[in-house]
Amino acid sequence: MITNPLRDPRDRRLPRVPEPCALVVFGITGDLARKKLLPAVYDLANRGLLPTNFALLGFARRGWGDEDFAALAREAARKAARTPWREEVWERLAGSVRFVQGSFDDDNAFDALAATLGELEGSHGIGGNAAFYLSIPPAMFPVVLKQMQRTGMADSTPERWRRVVVEKPFGTDLASSRELNELVDSVFTAEDVFRIDHYLGKETVQNLMALRFANSLFEPVWNGHHVDSVQITMAEDVGIGGRAAFYEQTGAARDVLQNHLLQLLALTAMEEPVEFSAEEIRTEKLKVLRAVSLPEDLARFAVRGQYEQGWLAGQRATGYRQEEGVDPHSTTETYAAVRLGVETRRWAGVPFYLRAGKRLPRRVTEIALVFKRAPHLPFADTDTEELGSNQLVIRVQPDEGMTLKFGSKVPGSVMEVRDVAMDFLYGEQFTEASPEAYERLLLDVLLGDATLFPRNAEVEASWAVIDPLEEFWTGTTPQPYRAGEWGPRAADEMLAAEGRRWRRP
Ligand code: BG6
Repeated sequence: MITNPLRDPRDRRLPRVPEPCALVVFGITGDLARKKLLPAVYDLANRGLLPTNFALLGFARRGWGDEDFAALAREAARKAARTPWREEVWERLAGSVRFVQGSFDDDNAFDALAATLGELEGSHGIGGNAAFYLSIPPAMFPVVLKQMQRTGMADSTPERWRRVVVEKPFGTDLASSRELNELVDSVFTAEDVFRIDHYLGKETVQNLMALRFANSLFEPVWNGHHVDSVQITMAEDVGIGGRAAFYEQTGAARDVLQNHLLQLLALTAMEEPVEFSAEEIRTEKLKVLRAVSLPEDLARFAVRGQYEQGWLAGQRATGYRQEEGVDPHSTTETYAAVRLGVETRRWAGVPFYLRAGKRLPRRVTEIALVFKRAPHLPFADTDTEELGSNQLVIRVQPDEGMTLKFGSKVPGSVMEVRDVAMDFLYGEQFTEASPEAYERLLLDVLLGDATLFPRNAEVEASWAVIDPLEEFWTGTTPQPYRAGEWGPRAADEMLAAEGRRWRRP
């Protein structure tokens, strides 16, 4: 890391610029690379956060040259960049874009990749440092990793670092994730492995730690003495897009509950880390994930659903089974809800309700702490008829911010208490726009900062939660819900049975 000797290198307010390096992307023609990775590289360059000696390499089967890849990268960046387009920034980047053609089982192609990295050391001074981004189907991981091992590309030495970035899904269950972790860890050293869960790169998710551990206001009530229940929602209005082949094999629980939602739960429920470092934060998250329990009665406290044809934002939306590439009798869930427990002193007895679904009325991700009702109200029942539970809602997206819901007197000569909301909106309090999750995470990979990346044991602990759920659901048919509705009725009944209600964000 390049630092100014006059400043304290631990000062995290300073822009951090990585050492000279290369970023190698496998699966460069895929959706993720075009929509997220390439725009993020441009945005980092535009913000002056890439080192002067930087190279971008694409690896794919297409018979392209460097110029073809550069043209694709430019178009992708132009289309989806967050920051304004500046041709001169792109021109500078384009000079160090390289393409290596080949398939994953082609030894010659990997030899060529190793040679290209060697050449870039001489021509672009990348210092031998490289991060390899595996934006490819997990089934391809073994062959690519073995190639990197064979060519010596995976070896970090005191003179240079080599890192690997693995995209989710990290396996499909506990056994396969263990196998995958063992494989990755046998090729790269543990500290050089970066598992991406892009939710951790979102600004509001990081703010959860600031909120909890930089303030004195929330900590006293952040526990089962005051919190009645926690609701974590990840609602999407979109369907499965062109990802039928992947989604049919995956379903909502494996796609997002196992990773994004359990990570949100971990950050909400964890204890204060000893210090703000990768090691300590991951340790605390792991403790929570190990303490997560599934309900004994899964038939009552876990619900899976599948969307049927319906209406969304005034448009007709196709049912899941009618989507292109989906089996007309598919039993894959597009909605999953479950009541989890966290078996710690802080959270004993507090239900954590998690839900995620596609084709719900709107896109919103939030964490809501629902507080217990005041133990006594010195008002007539009629005065507080419209008073609900106090709630603290952390909105991850969109409209990033936080809302505190509490009761207030309605103005006038009578006594009536009704819910009101106090809002904090990022957009109003700060002039800086939040970076995209991938921007932040790519930068952290190049800096070697693993704070926002789950450790292998976290991934495995999360699968240990999901496996019994998947097993329970095997051979069952998901409950239908109409596109544009908030999931199947059974999900509402699950909370109603305990006298609670899902929030309608
Ligand atoms: C991905 C899932 O991890 O997250 C997708 O595979 C989902 O199914 C996506 O649509 C949502 O991400 P975001 O950042 O748009 O909330």
